[in-house]
Amino acid sequence: MKDLIYLDNAATSHPKPETVYQAVDNALRLGASPGRGGHQQALTAERLVFETRELLAELFNAPDSERFVFTANATAAINQALFGLLTTGDRVVTTSIEHNAVVRPLRELQDRGVEVVKVAVDPASGIVSPAALKEACLSAKTDLLLVNHCSNVFGSLQPIEGLGHWCHQQGILFMVDGSQTAGCLPVDFQTLGVDLFAAPGHKCLLGPQGTGFLYVAKSIALTPLIYGGTGANSHSDRPPEQLPERLECGTMNLPGLAGLKAAIEYILQIGVAKIRQHELHLLDYLLCGLRQIEGLTLYGPADAAQRGAAVSFNLKNTAPAEIGYFLDQAENISVRVGLQCAPDAHRSIGTYPQGTVRASPGYFTSERELDQFLQAIRSCQQRS
Ligand SMILES: Cc1ncc(COP(=O)(O)O)c(C=O)c1O
Repeated sequence: MKDLIYLDNAATSHPKPETVYQAVDNALRLGASPGRGGHQQALTAERLVFETRELLAELFNAPDSERFVFTANATAAINQALFGLLTTGDRVVTTSIEHNAVVRPLRELQDRGVEVVKVAVDPASGIVSPAALKEACLSAKTDLLLVNHCSNVFGSLQPIEGLGHWCHQQGILFMVDGSQTAGCLPVDFQTLGVDLFAAPGHKCLLGPQGTGFLYVAKSIALTPLIYGGTGANSHSDRPPEQLPERLECGTMNLPGLAGLKAAIEYILQIGVAKIRQHELHLLDYLLCGLRQIEGLTLYGPADAAQRGAAVSFNLKNTAPAEIGYFLDQAENISVRVGLQCAPDAHRSIGTYPQGTVRASPGYFTSERELDQFLQAIRSCQQRS
């Protein structure tokens, strides 16, 4: 069996830093949950969760760590934001390149009387024009502008700089799905002027599956999706008013959050700018190698600087599923093929319904692994 080459970091990062595995193990052995008891173990658990929020605030330059609400994943964070905010008669502007984590809640909200406007991306690059987003926002009274920071299919980075502050001048809230950028691209909440930011803890943040967060800016009140115990205000049959408790009912994923804390510490130690630099180098290397393969069509921005670390392509005469099967079975290389949970994105760029082969390197990917991957794609091409 060949050594595993893991190029599916856009789904979940692998491997995690060694300290993450250790932190999960330690937390699982602690025997307590945050906010559930006054004994030392419970206080240790509570401190651990508090420190994880503080680290997130440091990483994203957020003014208040208590505005980070922990969730099971990015999908849960996005659902909390959208169903907690929007009601019948509201209007949302978004892009045509969103993940189903956005598309499906918006579809449901549409059925409940929320107007949803999708602004098309440029089919060659997968990038949306900020001018087109603004025009759509101004064409009727709009409540929310929601943009996927980086396409999980084509890697296209959306030019979101300036949109947040513009939205505030217009009385519109600005939300970012940072699932493919949080942890691997410098993101500054205050500079971007984000009101809501959703991200998983298990992708670029290098934490365990089962973690994610929603950042809710100070002025925003969301209706909870889940009601139950919080460990505080137990006398009341209503949830507490304050964040994060209001949106964090039920026992938390302490082992996951302990792992996430260790992962953020690791990222802060290296520096997000350095992580981005390394991934940009890998992207350049990968794009350059793929361009030299005859019969291969690459999608998304030509310039690596306009990309996150997801690269989609197709080979002439071979279906993506067939390529994925060959890579997995013959080469022990993990990629993601098909629609990658983002059919709208594929419709936008002309790769629906068969989808693409997506290779997503991560911080721990090496040039040598990319060489082996490129060689495997050449072998696949020759077989067809
Ligand atoms: C852009 C984007 N949004 C949302 C999600 C959903 O993330 P999760 O699976 O953590 O809920 C993903 C996952 O691939 C994604 O790439």
